Amino acid sequence: MRGAAAAAIELKSRSEIEAIRRSGRAVARVLAKVSKAVRPGMKTWELETLAREESSRLGVKPAFLGYLGYSAALCVSINQEVVHGIPSPRRVVKEGDVVSLDYGCVLEGFFADAAVTVGVGRIGAEAQRLIDVTRVSLEKAVAAMKADGRLGDVSSAVQRYVEGNGFSVVRDFSGHGIGRALHESPSVPNFGGAGTGMRLQPGLVLAIEPMVTAGSEKTEVLADGWTAVTKDGSLAAHFEHTVALSERGPEVLTEDHG
Ligand code: MF3
Ligand code: CO
Repeated sequence: MRGAAAAAIELKSRSEIEAIRRSGRAVARVLAKVSKAVRPGMKTWELETLAREESSRLGVKPAFLGYLGYSAALCVSINQEVVHGIPSPRRVVKEGDVVSLDYGCVLEGFFADAAVTVGVGRIGAEAQRLIDVTRVSLEKAVAAMKADGRLGDVSSAVQRYVEGNGFSVVRDFSGHGIGRALHESPSVPNFGGAGTGMRLQPGLVLAIEPMVTAGSEKTEVLADGWTAVTKDGSLAAHFEHTVALSERGPEVLTEDHG
C-alpha cells in the first residue's frame, strides 16, 4: 500500500487469527493456481479469469476488485512494473519475463493478502537472483517478527538482506496491518532501523511485502493511476505473506497445508 494508515493497532484473538488463516489458505490456493498457469503467450486477463474462477470455487470474495476503484481481483506486474499492474486482454507475457502476482480475499469478514513472483519459461540469471533474494528477504522478515522485538526489526531484516545482495528496497510502498480491513495500522516499511518503532506483541497481524528492484528504488505511477514502475526501468520483484505473531512466535497465514 501507499501512504500511512495511522489508526490504532487492533490486536487479534486466537479465533480471529484462525479466521484470517482460513482466508489466507484461499489466497495461497488462488496464487498457486494462477502462478502455475503462467506460460509464454498468455494474456494477463486470462490470469485474472483464473483468479476469479478459483475465488468463487473457494467461496471467497476478491479483496482488490472495486477497492479504491481498482478494476480487477489480481495485480499482475511484469518486469519493471513493481506492483498494482492491472490485468488486460491486450497484455501478453513472454518467455524471460518476471511476473509478480498479488491477490487478496475476504472470508467471514477477514482479509488476507499475499504475493509471489515467478519467471516465465527460462529467465536470466540476474532475474532469478532478484526473485530469490526478494523471497528470502520475506523469510528473514517473518523470522524477525518476535514478541518483545520492534517493528523496525522486521523492516531492517528486509533492507539488510536486500542491500547486502546489491539490490534496492522500494520506499514508496509498504506492508500493512490486516484483519477486518485490507489495510490496517501499522504501516510496515521495507527499510528502517532494528530496535526502533513499536513493540511487537502477540495478536499483531501484518501483511509483510518486500518490493525489490535490481536498480534504483525510485518508482512512479503510470497514467492508468495504478501501475507502479521503476523510474530507471530496472526489474522488480514482490513477495508478500500475511503473518500473525502469536504466543508461539510468527505464523504465516497465507499458506495451504492441504
Ligand atoms: N498487496 C497490495 C497492497 O497491499 C495490493 C493492493 S491492490 C489494490 O497494496 F487494488 F487493492 F489496491
Ligand atoms: Co498488501
